[in-house]
Amino acid sequence: MRVITIDDDFDAWRAAALEALAQGLAPEMVDWRTSQAEPALFNESAPSVHSTGAPPIRVSRELAALLKDAAHCRDARRWNFLYRVLWRWAAGDRSAASPADEDGARLYKMAKAVRRAQHDMIAYVRFRQRDAALGAPEYVAWYEPDHDVLAWGAAHFAARMGRSTWLIATPDGAAMFDGERLQLERRRAVASDHAADAPDAAEALWMTYYRSIFNPARLNESALEQHMPVRFWKGLPEGALIPTLVSDARGGARRVAQAQSVGALGGKSVQVDALDAQPERDAPTSLDACRRCDLWRNATQAVRGAGPSGARIMLLGEQPGDQEDLKGEPFVGPAGQLLDDAMQRAGVPREQVFLTNAVKHFKWEPRGKRRLHKTPAQQEIEACSYWLEQELHDIGARVIVTLGATALNALFGRRATLSAHVGRVVPYRDKLVVATYHPSYALRQNDEAARERTVAAIVAALEQARELASPSQ
Ligand code: URA
Repeated sequence: MRVITIDDDFDAWRAAALEALAQGLAPEMVDWRTSQAEPALFNESAPSVHSTGAPPIRVSRELAALLKDAAHCRDARRWNFLYRVLWRWAAGDRSAASPADEDGARLYKMAKAVRRAQHDMIAYVRFRQRDAALGAPEYVAWYEPDHDVLAWGAAHFAARMGRSTWLIATPDGAAMFDGERLQLERRRAVASDHAADAPDAAEALWMTYYRSIFNPARLNESALEQHMPVRFWKGLPEGALIPTLVSDARGGARRVAQAQSVGALGGKSVQVDALDAQPERDAPTSLDACRRCDLWRNATQAVRGAGPSGARIMLLGEQPGDQEDLKGEPFVGPAGQLLDDAMQRAGVPREQVFLTNAVKHFKWEPRGKRRLHKTPAQQEIEACSYWLEQELHDIGARVIVTLGATALNALFGRRATLSAHVGRVVPYRDKLVVATYHPSYALRQNDEAARERTVAAIVAALEQARELASPSQ
């Protein structure tokens, strides 16, 4: 077995792979390892130390692109795998690059995952403007790509943000643009003991890196310590602040801090092609991992529907509110209390209905120390319809009561107006929809008589749903 140790990048692997091919080393005779060299500042164009005179082999344009993309996949065995594909190709076995082949299929899957991560990066990186008095960089962003796409994403932003200076920090490294030159710093997943001795040039990067990772609302202490070892804090002017910030966040100031920091942020719009910003999404593996829209970023958690799987009535609200976001259950805040009273009056036991929302993450904006509900955008309603569809399918309720305009919109589209539907029964696929007001609307009404009329309309809709859902109907 020959161990080939390379820098963890495509060019290094390609040069070494050509050499291994030239020596006739079969894939099973080679174990590819990556060097644990200390992180080093490097330029994209820096020549690889592994360049050799090994003869190139001809591969199709498509295979070249697949290999290059798949090389950025977070798969510890990728260099071994890519070498096997290349070996097979060099031996004349073209099926190695076919999606019908086992290796080919894996290659396509890896490349696709990386391209998706590239799209995600340009869609989801959010630059935050720093205080001008702090000097460069003017903008910073913290981002956690699913695959190793920092260099690609950085080149994208460098081409689009003019001469602004910026830094993108990720768990595996940082990219900095000084208005002219793009510089990348790779950092091993496990920080080496030499991190504290980082050269001066890197120190400015790390100071900014710290600022951008310290979002108290998303504090992950072990990650903070892994990527910014405690011993390194003392080298930073802000280092002394970290323990206080951490203990504040632990002590329950997290939500307030989030509201304040979000409110205080400036920003810069980055023009992104619509197609890039809205890549076609594969099915997410779970609601908790859903990134179909951006709302997950500022929410505590996704709130899925709750209730018996055989419920004959589904109540469809808009989105979780402040308390639902914290507890992870629908309708447990003030609107839920009003709804509970209405259900009781209508003779609809809460335990027998399935309660859910059109949008599963809380959308809000800071207002002082409060998180103020914000109506979800059409795009967010549409992105989340993926989950609503699953619930409609899984629960199979006969009657759906839509609470408010967003719920109605989620089923019938934005042209369906609440005023035209309230109190009516409308067929929807194999179901019946009863549209009514949202309980929050009643809560917002100061006039007591008007509020009682709204509550009565909700009660009437629930009674109607009970009748329509009865097995004799
Ligand atoms: N409002 C809603 O629409 N849904 C909830 O779960 C809570 C408040």
